[in-house]
Amino acid sequence: MARGRRSIVAPALRFGAYSTAMDITDVIHRHRSIRKYKPDPVPDDLLTDVLGAALRASSSGNMQTYSIIVTRDRALRERLYGPHMEQEMVLDAPVLLTFCADFHRMRHWLRLSDAPDNFDNFMSFMIAAIDATLASQNVALAAEARGLGICYMGSTLANCDQIGRILELPQSVVPVVGFSLGWPAEDPAPRDRLPLDGLVHYDTYHDYTDERIEEIYRERNRKGWERYMSFPGLRALTEASGAQNLAQVYTVVKYTRESHQAFSETVLGYLREQGFMN
Ligand SMILES: Cc1cc2nc3c(=O)[nH]c(=O)nc-3n(C[C@H](O)[C@H](O)[C@H](O)COP(=O)(O)O)c2cc1C
Repeated sequence: MARGRRSIVAPALRFGAYSTAMDITDVIHRHRSIRKYKPDPVPDDLLTDVLGAALRASSSGNMQTYSIIVTRDRALRERLYGPHMEQEMVLDAPVLLTFCADFHRMRHWLRLSDAPDNFDNFMSFMIAAIDATLASQNVALAAEARGLGICYMGSTLANCDQIGRILELPQSVVPVVGFSLGWPAEDPAPRDRLPLDGLVHYDTYHDYTDERIEEIYRERNRKGWERYMSFPGLRALTEASGAQNLAQVYTVVKYTRESHQAFSETVLGYLREQGFMN
C-alpha cells in the first residue's frame, strides 16, 4: 500500500463499527446526496471525529474564519424547518450542520491583542465563506467515509438572515453552507455529471462553440429532464409553466429571476447587518 494512502485509511479504521476503510478517491466518487434518514443518532465520538476533519482544511492565512453549528435539538430543527424551505431532512436527519463565515472570534482576538481590525468588509466575508466551504466539504467526505449520508441545503445561504437569528449568531458571523447528516435510509444511484473535458481548460480559457455546448449538455438534457419529470410536484409546475426543456426548467421553474433577486437582497442585507459591508 502506498504511504500516503495508509494515512488516509487509518482514521476510518478507528471507527470500525461505523465504517469501511475506503480510499479517499473511492469516497469522493461514491458520493450521492442522501435525503432520507434512519432515526438512529450519530454517536458523539463519531460526530467529533467527523467534525475534526474540518480542522485540516486549508484556510486563508490559517485564520480558520469559520464556525460549525451542530444542531441536534428537535425543537431547534423544527424552527429551522421553515427557513430551510420545509425540506424534510431537517426534521428526519438526526444532525444538521451549519457552516458559518466567522470573523467574530478573530476580531475579538485582535481587540484583546491591541491589533488593528481590517475585517469588516466584503473581502473578509469572501475569505471566511471560502474557509467555511472548504471545511464543510472535508466534514462531508469524512462522514461519507464512515457510512453516513449528507445533503447540502442551499436554503442556508438563501435564508441566512432567519437561520442566523435562530442560531443566535453574533456580529461578523453568517451562515454559508449547511447539510443534513445521518444514517442513510435510501441508496440512490449516483447522479450524472457534465464530462470532465467540458469543465477543464488547459493553459487559458477556451470559450465554447454552440456545437460544443450541445455536446457537453447532451446527456444532462436527457437525464436531468427524466429526473425532474419523475417528481410529481416538479412535473406539475413544469407543465403549468410551459417549460419545454431542462434549461427552461432551471430558469422558469427552479431558479427564477425574481427568486434570485430576492435572495440576493436577503444575503446583501444580512451581510450589511452582520458588519461585512464597510
Ligand atoms: C450549495 C448546495 C446547495 C444545495 N441545496 C440543496 C437543497 O436545498 N436541497 C436538496 O435536496 N439538495 C441540495 N443540494 C444537493 C444537490 O442537489 C446535489 O449535490 C446535486 O444535485 C448533485 O447530486 P449528488 O450530490 O447526489 O451527486 C445542494 C448542493 C449544494 C452544493
